Amino acid sequence: MTTNFPDSFDYQGMNAPMRVECDIYDLIVEGNLPKEINGSWYRTIPDPQYPPLLGHDTYLSGDGMISSFKFENGHVDFKMKYVMTDRLKAERKARRGLFGLYRNPYTDDPSVRGLNRCVNNTTPVFHGGRLLALKEDGLAMEIHPETLDTVGVFNYKGKLKSQTMTAHTRLDPDTGELCFFGYEASGLATRDVSYCVADDEGQLVSEEWFQVPYVSLMHDFAVTKEHVIFPVFPTTADLDRMKAGGTHWVFEPDKDTFIGIMPRDGHVTDMHWFRRPACSAFHFMNAYTEGKFVHLDFGIGKYAPFPFIQQASHIHPTPEDMAFGRVVRWTFDMSKPGEKFEEYNLAPAGDFPRIANKDHMHDYSIGYYQRFDPTAGPPLVAGPVGAGFNTLSRLEVKSGKIKSWHSNKPVTIQEEVHIPSKQPGHEGYLALVADLHDTQLSDVLVFEAEHVDKGPIATIKMPLRLRNQVHGNWVDAEELQ
Ligand SMILES: [Fe+2]
Repeated sequence: MTTNFPDSFDYQGMNAPMRVECDIYDLIVEGNLPKEINGSWYRTIPDPQYPPLLGHDTYLSGDGMISSFKFENGHVDFKMKYVMTDRLKAERKARRGLFGLYRNPYTDDPSVRGLNRCVNNTTPVFHGGRLLALKEDGLAMEIHPETLDTVGVFNYKGKLKSQTMTAHTRLDPDTGELCFFGYEASGLATRDVSYCVADDEGQLVSEEWFQVPYVSLMHDFAVTKEHVIFPVFPTTADLDRMKAGGTHWVFEPDKDTFIGIMPRDGHVTDMHWFRRPACSAFHFMNAYTEGKFVHLDFGIGKYAPFPFIQQASHIHPTPEDMAFGRVVRWTFDMSKPGEKFEEYNLAPAGDFPRIANKDHMHDYSIGYYQRFDPTAGPPLVAGPVGAGFNTLSRLEVKSGKIKSWHSNKPVTIQEEVHIPSKQPGHEGYLALVADLHDTQLSDVLVFEAEHVDKGPIATIKMPLRLRNQVHGNWVDAEELQ
């Protein structure tokens, strides 16, 4: 290969493509790794096999790479493999990049017209005995949970009609049901959205479709025991713009945000739409229903945070725009007609919210998330937004009390995963990959979730740099069996 990757933050420094498939038995562990941690932590990473066809692209277009940290009785093994998508196979055959702009097939090489261009690089989800690698512009790819070999496209044995499946599914911790949706469900830049439920055995039991007010980047949604919440933020798509060779996404600050809420035991025709001025969010910490109220907790921002979207939208965030960001609670009164709802501040700005799986959809007290704290060091390049988070925080949701940890070295952190403990009253553990900017390597840090401020209890040393994951999930050994 003779072509170099572009000289942009998406491909340089800690973001430089790795393109390494590997298998490491018994990683070096420093500190005290609790022997009760048994299971696999799956992670999906964008890692481009080839430089982009047009000479530039976003980090998010990288070919899906799936990895697993298998924890067993104080030992950790690591495995990493490409998701063998049609797109990757075609590019390997041609020995070059064939795909153009992010999610714009009109900019591709003519030789791949009509080919499935999904990179399946966003979230690994284990459900119904299957491991799925997901990305929201296509269908799931089934992966062998032990070998990480690609099994093939998974569409619930042909039952799923939606052409897309979100990377942010919601698992009901009590019933084992997996709730998910797909936007642009009937094709590129369509307003159709699917809402689907798979039972605890992984069988698709319902699929309903509805239309959103405009085509929106619906990255995540939320589910309570009683309701389903579909936020529609004004990062919008337009088919004519794509046909003209433009970007899939533009942020439109003049458009309102809409929030559709439907009863879980009802239908999409029962959707109640709420509305407020433009804003942006990518990940929801949790949601729950309390009588007539539905609560939704998350980190809000003024604009979509990705530089390639801001650039296409001619948005240049000011310090005031940045100060808009914070963690909020939106409370919707389902008994009132109309479009208004309440907003309350919960905590300082951040993203990558996680909670214990058992707490999903319920009233809860603890959440974990990541922040950029300027007192912990200057911004460092890592991940798709251009600057990585440097601080891990534990939020007491009711009081707003925060405990935090950051490294004293130039370190950015990737999304944390929560690992439950079997000890009664124990809050469990958090694990994350830390980007070590001084050595260009990575460590895996393990924390007692209740005491993140005390720093990691164990460090797993990686002999290589791990590119920033998008998301990861923990699967207990018992569940894998
Ligand atoms: Fe996400």
